[in-house]
Amino acid sequence: MYKKIKENILYAGMNDKDRLIFDELIPLDKGTSYNSYIVIGSEKTAVIDTMYPKFTKEYIKSFDENGITKVDYIIANHGEQDHSGSIPALLEKFPNAMVVTNAVCAKNLQEMLLVPAEKIKIITNNEELSLGNKTLQFMIAPGVHWPDTMFTYIKEDNIICTCDFLGAHYIFDDVFAVPSDDLEKSAKKYFAEIMMPFSFVCRKYVKQIRELNVEMVLPSHGPVHKNPDYILNLYENWAGEQGKNLVLLPYVSMYKSTEEMIDYLAKKLDEKGIPSVKYDMVDGNLGDLAIALVDGTTIVLGTSMVLAGPHPAAFNTVYLASILRPKAKIASFIGSYGWGGDLFGKMADMLAPLKLDVIEPILVKGKAKADDYAKIDKMADEIFNKHKELGLI
Ligand code: FEO
Repeated sequence: MYKKIKENILYAGMNDKDRLIFDELIPLDKGTSYNSYIVIGSEKTAVIDTMYPKFTKEYIKSFDENGITKVDYIIANHGEQDHSGSIPALLEKFPNAMVVTNAVCAKNLQEMLLVPAEKIKIITNNEELSLGNKTLQFMIAPGVHWPDTMFTYIKEDNIICTCDFLGAHYIFDDVFAVPSDDLEKSAKKYFAEIMMPFSFVCRKYVKQIRELNVEMVLPSHGPVHKNPDYILNLYENWAGEQGKNLVLLPYVSMYKSTEEMIDYLAKKLDEKGIPSVKYDMVDGNLGDLAIALVDGTTIVLGTSMVLAGPHPAAFNTVYLASILRPKAKIASFIGSYGWGGDLFGKMADMLAPLKLDVIEPILVKGKAKADDYAKIDKMADEIFNKHKELGLI
């Protein structure tokens, strides 16, 4: 059965508890939900976002099961198919309905789902659509996270549907968020993968939503926020410009030489009051790394040499960091080799767009010796001084 959010606003979403990974990239702890909302006005009925294609049949059936016999508008806040995938089937069920969206999303729906242009009503920023006693206002919000994204504000109820923004890959029995460590972790991982590259834009929309003083936030994944401050505060923190007094130590080590150096650095940092997170790039959960990237100010990556270059797992991590655009400001490398090659050059090139302050890397043949450990001491000192300069210590 649909769940009631408020009078004549229903939750028609579905939980996907079996989904173990999203975007084939970040593992999910608790599956995800695809949220769809139905707004019933005195004259017209609107559906806000639809359903992931896998559940289309069940989703379409749910309209009859819940007595929804008329849909006039299908609001597409975003063209990605976990929300738009059931639009063609919904148009088939309700042939008189019109899809309502912005021009960028309209193009996506035509190209990705073959929605006919004549079935789409294109709106502009702040345009309103009357459902009778309820009014929908559209706020075009490109960049959180596609260029086609918009929010739908239900004016009389002071509720905003934010699509992917402020969401979480998290399933729930009740529709409303109950703050917990688990929910926060899921929302943070989701932020890291989906929103962190657009932190600047996130800050802008958090401010905009705060100014509206909304009663509820209805995202398209995860629970509904009856206390919007909970998720807005978290986003404000995660999307901020300054990281924490935290060093990330992703590493891959074939014969333990690199890992021993990483462990030594972690110990030295700890002695100076700098926490660190060690992350095994081969066996680790990418979600844990993504979460750590939200907070870390310094990244020191450790890798063994494979043939004449870094281990492929190190490239993977460096590439991920380069596309997620974390708030880290300082970086370095530690590595060990057997017979030679270029261990750091290509990775440094890949990170160049992040404009990180790079501390002199440490490259060791085989095991670290006394002078190598002295270099690690110096690296720990430099990290301490830089964190101090940034006001983190
Ligand atoms: Fe949940 Fe961008 O789709």
